[in-house]
Amino acid sequence: MSIQSNNNSRNGAGSTVGQNNDIYNIVLLIVDIVILVFKFWLTIIEETVKLFTTRPQANVSGQFVLITGAGHGMGKEMALQYAGIGAKVICWDINDQTNSQTVKEIKQAGGTAYGYVCNVVKREDIMELASRIRKEHGFVSVVVNNAGIMPCHPLLEHTEQETRLMYDINVLAHYWIIQAFLPDMIERNEGSIVALSSCAGLFGLANLVPYCGTKFAVRGYMAALAEELRQKNPQTNIKLTTIYPYMIDTGLCKNPRYRFPNAMKLISPKDAAASIIEAQRQGLEEAAIPRHFVAVEKLGRLIPRKAMRLVNDFLDTGVDTDKM
Ligand SMILES: NC(=O)c1ccc[n+]([C@@H]2O[C@H](COP(=O)([O-])OP(=O)(O)OC[C@H]3O[C@@H](n4cnc5c(N)ncnc54)[C@H](O)[C@@H]3O)[C@@H](O)[C@H]2O)c1
Ligand SMILES: *[C@@H]1O[C@H](CO)[C@@H](O)[C@H](O)[C@H]1NC(C)=O
Repeated sequence: MSIQSNNNSRNGAGSTVGQNNDIYNIVLLIVDIVILVFKFWLTIIEETVKLFTTRPQANVSGQFVLITGAGHGMGKEMALQYAGIGAKVICWDINDQTNSQTVKEIKQAGGTAYGYVCNVVKREDIMELASRIRKEHGFVSVVVNNAGIMPCHPLLEHTEQETRLMYDINVLAHYWIIQAFLPDMIERNEGSIVALSSCAGLFGLANLVPYCGTKFAVRGYMAALAEELRQKNPQTNIKLTTIYPYMIDTGLCKNPRYRFPNAMKLISPKDAAASIIEAQRQGLEEAAIPRHFVAVEKLGRLIPRKAMRLVNDFLDTGVDTDKM
């Protein structure tokens, strides 16, 4: 609703027209506020109800799903599981051998997969590969920005090269890949982009200063992109999903530490992959693994930091340096 103020007076009765306009504008403002309050609470109720119901999952059978870092860990498990539900999986990894192994395993299980060696740091390679894939296969419906690295030690021990590489892989590569595949999604008004952030994108953790920076960055750019797409097209069907895994047993996290290993044990890459795929198919904007971590973070922010630190110290959970 747009409010136009027109206080020009050409007919000599300027003050009355102005007054009428003022009243009119106030009425419009009140109507806007009433609509806002009504929709606001309605949406809160709707979204709360949705938390307790199982959402329908999109059918990805026959569609192309691109996964970066498909040679190992969660990327590999996602590739296998997406293929298992009928998706045609495009596997990208810097490591030819492990990537080909993933493709081989998918084919052996009767699925469809295509492997490409790709160093996601190289923007030109990404653009070239993307146009090749567009020509050879067509529309890619799901893009999973998964490849990532996690050097883990105090900030003063991080080298420049390592730090830059971390931002190149964990953040900048996501931009290049989105720039390559989003235009088709916008044109068709469909598709889904998944980004791997981390619990290190929700909480600040010792030994992970640059890594936390990259994962907070993922969370930030995904929120901004969602806003940009929504402003461009309020009816957008493009789904953005940000994933915040806690510690997953892939070997990426070398020295996890916890006081209560039974309550906070490492999650298997299989379970993590299943959880990511479910979140993508349900079109969730945010999903932690385990799921309740997003709520924990929201609650944690309401509580003064000093008080939260007491809880952290009690749980004594984190990661120790990898230079031991
Ligand atoms: N494992 C965890 O505990 C954990 C927790 C939270 C978030 N994450 C995030 O999840 C994602 C996957 O983690 P993972 O544990 O499965 O990792 P992983 O180390 O098991 O596998 C990562 C894969 O990415 C590939 N890769 C690395 N650099 C690349 C590059 N430049 N170009 C292309 N491919 C490259 C590797 O070859 C490897 O196959 C990462 O973004 C990670 O930060 C992991
Ligand atoms: C999913 O899509 C595939 C391919 O379009 C179709 O064959 C299949 O019947 C669909 N499955 C469901 C449950 O709708």
